[in-house]
Amino acid sequence: MHHSWISGIGSAHPKGIVTNEELAKKIAQHGAETNDQWIRERTGICERRISSLKEDERNSSLGLRASLEAMEMANIQPQDIDLILYATCSPDTLVPSTACWLQKKLGALQAGALDLNAACSGFVYGLHLADQMIKTGAHKTILVIGGEVLSPYLNWGDRTSSILFGDGAGAAVVQRTHSDQSSRLFSTHVGSDGNLWDLFYIPAGGSNQEVTPEVYERQEHKMKMKGREIFKVACNTLATYAKKAIESNEFSVEDVDWIVPHQANLRIIENVAKKLNVPMDKVIVNVDRFGNTSAATVPTAFAEAVKTGKIKRGDLVLFDVFGAGLTYGSALLRW
Ligand code: ACO
Repeated sequence: MHHSWISGIGSAHPKGIVTNEELAKKIAQHGAETNDQWIRERTGICERRISSLKEDERNSSLGLRASLEAMEMANIQPQDIDLILYATCSPDTLVPSTACWLQKKLGALQAGALDLNAACSGFVYGLHLADQMIKTGAHKTILVIGGEVLSPYLNWGDRTSSILFGDGAGAAVVQRTHSDQSSRLFSTHVGSDGNLWDLFYIPAGGSNQEVTPEVYERQEHKMKMKGREIFKVACNTLATYAKKAIESNEFSVEDVDWIVPHQANLRIIENVAKKLNVPMDKVIVNVDRFGNTSAATVPTAFAEAVKTGKIKRGDLVLFDVFGAGLTYGSALLRW
């Protein structure tokens, strides 16, 4: 039986840093009020990166930079990739897919390419699919990207949601390996509850609702969020899916070297660490510098921790996510 492992990882963010102070000024221009202290205390976010929306900072361009880094670590060429799974809810264009834009930029012409949308959970959903496709023998080398440029969907007049998000992309090369290799994916778990669709959604711009001038005026092509409700569900599902990953592999919480959780809010992360009885120094955090980059949070936080030498080959790592849908999931791997 085949197994899969992550042979390379990479990340990319736009150049433009927007501090809380700068954001507060922008939000004030849209008639709402916020400040650095509130944002830091309630979210842990100090700054985020916002795309210029120019060619080099489009979603697929950030995905390209992250992918090239991951491919260099994995020591593979574009022609080695046989599938591209691009997790995003903010595609370059609705059609063609962001995966196809990336394929063109990479020159990975042997690869099938598709987008998948599980919002912030997308990267773990991508790993879930990649793992299964490698296990069946259908594919050998899959590029999984979590990339978002969500800034165009922010309503700057809505201070509850517009303070949270940033843009970025992370990529992983997932490849076939043997069961005797210690570096490998042990399991992935995914779940969803569509009944909770209205906790986070974008009303217009899909086939439910065309963006007419009236819809535009009401800002219904921008995201709407019930932050307090998401907060509670997120804490519970993150704890549940973390335990699922650990228990299904007959590990204990103490065996886990690092948890890389979805970076939505530092308070959510701390709450889950407490529920799991895990000290915060085993938890990777980058929400302070990048905000919530949705599907990109886990691969970018992971890539950064690998690049800085915090996470080392042989460490047991848990990815733990939730997102709009609602969707949730976890993955356990030996790096
Ligand atoms: N600045 C100043 N005051 C604010 C701001 C702001 N930016 N935002 C809200 N407030 C006010 C509220 O109006 C409220 O005032 P009131 O008491 O006078 O009514 C007060 O602050 C408290 O508001 P809460 O909503 O209770 O604040 P909370 O502590 O819950 O923090 C937050 C809000 C940051 C949104 C938090 O609930 C959160 O992070 N939730 C999770 C959001 C999330 O993860 N979203 C990702 C969606 S998933 C995806 O797939 C994209």
